Amino acid sequence: MPLIEWDNAFSVGNQQLDDHHKKFFHIINTLHDAMRKGEGEEILLSVLKELQQYIQYHFKAEESLMKIYAYPNISSHKEEHDDAVQKVNKFIVAYERHEDKLAIDVLNFLSNWLQNHILRIDREYIPYLNKKV
Ligand SMILES: [Fe+2]
Ligand SMILES: [Fe+2]
Repeated sequence: MPLIEWDNAFSVGNQQLDDHHKKFFHIINTLHDAMRKGEGEEILLSVLKELQQYIQYHFKAEESLMKIYAYPNISSHKEEHDDAVQKVNKFIVAYERHEDKLAIDVLNFLSNWLQNHILRIDREYIPYLNKKV
């Protein structure tokens, strides 16, 4: 059973960005499933690497759309993105140091961050991205 499922409440009104967000849900659910089977530690590094790559790809796409549509809060939004990038980088360092209970920390961070960021911060750009340029 998935930990969190994407539904329309998460939609930002843009197909490409919704698809990116769905990918994050998929990554989280993959980690959660593995943890339930006791295999969380085994896939943690590949999950973190995938996340590290996808998060940058998504943020770049989102930030360029915010720029095109002259979204006024782009700089504070970008700061939230940069913090998330740093956090994922720190998880990779923690993994290399063999820190305890890392999978659960990663899972908690991701599910909270994703729900708060998409539902609160990302959704604030909806009216701007749906405006004619
Ligand atoms: Fe965002
Ligand atoms: Fe986003």
